[in-house]
Amino acid sequence: MYSTAVLGCAWGDEAKAKIVDVLAGESDIVVRFQGGNNAGHTIKVGNEKFVFHLIPSGILYPDKICILGSGVVIDPFKLIEEIDALKSKNIIFKNRFFIDARAHIVLPLHKELDGKYEQNSKQTRIGTTKRGIGPCYSDAYARTGIRFGDLFKTDYLKNRVSNIFSYHNYPVKEVDLVVKKLTKAGKQLEQYLKQIPYFLDECTDKHVLFEGAQGALLDINFGTYPFVTSSHTIAGGIPIGTGYAKKIDRVVGVFKSYYTRVGEGPFPTELNNETGNKIRTRGNEFGSTTGRPRRCGWFDAVAAKYTSMINGIDEIALTLLDVLSGFETVNICNKYILKNNEETDEFPYSNFDLEIVKPKYIELPGWEEDISQIKNFDDLPKNAKQYVHKIEEILKVKVSIVSVGAKRDQTIIR
Ligand code: IMP
Repeated sequence: MYSTAVLGCAWGDEAKAKIVDVLAGESDIVVRFQGGNNAGHTIKVGNEKFVFHLIPSGILYPDKICILGSGVVIDPFKLIEEIDALKSKNIIFKNRFFIDARAHIVLPLHKELDGKYEQNSKQTRIGTTKRGIGPCYSDAYARTGIRFGDLFKTDYLKNRVSNIFSYHNYPVKEVDLVVKKLTKAGKQLEQYLKQIPYFLDECTDKHVLFEGAQGALLDINFGTYPFVTSSHTIAGGIPIGTGYAKKIDRVVGVFKSYYTRVGEGPFPTELNNETGNKIRTRGNEFGSTTGRPRRCGWFDAVAAKYTSMINGIDEIALTLLDVLSGFETVNICNKYILKNNEETDEFPYSNFDLEIVKPKYIELPGWEEDISQIKNFDDLPKNAKQYVHKIEEILKVKVSIVSVGAKRDQTIIR
């Protein structure tokens, strides 16, 4: 078995799906291991647009198997909608889409709780996607959660739903209705049930691609806590969220050529000015799940070195380089200046420190040319190549893929 991981190395939205889509061509199985329908991405193939929230985009290749591992949290109603929308575009699911029985279910009450926590001024507002992700993972850890495999055991399911309702002080009179809806959804999804650890263990001659959602700076342990998502977004999340425990052969870290963030939390290189607006407009930086405008800023190599380290990345996929065409100069932050004017290249663990650091930039000359049709690295403008080389030099990792547009063929492989 050969394995590749594609992992977001910033605050999500690094255009991982595009890289997964390109690399899925070489693989047999695409596996998601964390997160839920808080993720969102659009893939363009030819002139057709496909929107994904839960299902790995590998499903677009008719010969690939796609999997949701035990670490993924599943809103069954949204999953059915997504499957139906793809089926209506002639995508086949039978015998090539599987869900681990252990994956937790996002209930309507999780979404309600997510919204409520976000409104509660006593809580720190995280700016979540309000898809119920945090409350669902909390219930998993509180051992009150409901798992995919439970949907097919009606009496047990009823006990579990009653239990979770009383745990959250929800009116128990609604239990029967929720059980009915879950059972109905379960009937539609049962064909996809699988023991994924055994399945992956038996795929000895296959190439497996692990598709990360969100990004390392949103990791529940290593991200900018509490402004994070509730799952393990880094490489360590793969065995936890799939049961596949062998070494990953190739870890591809995905970075945008600039940085973005949605939701609250510190962002040292954020540009609250015309340059930030220009990046947002040029890069169409609006959330695909919530439509929120993304906060935009320069490439942060201090954060990037940290996320390369905690993911153990072997190579970099640098995306959206085309968006940086037309800037007189482009900046890379390679140090943070602390309150006492000392410089550091260590990413602080504390949000208080991260809030007050000042970025120290290397300023590089920009390039005017539209690079979106360039297929070879050598054909890029000199200054664009210099920008990529500078990132490699600082991170000491090769940039092996450069993406210059949303389409599959707008990709430079080095
Ligand atoms: P949650 O995952 O909905 O609980 O949101 C927690 C934080 O993660 C918020 O700041 C969200 O904006 C952010 N987040 C969640 N999913 C994504 C994503 O796919 N891209 C970017 N940010 C995300």
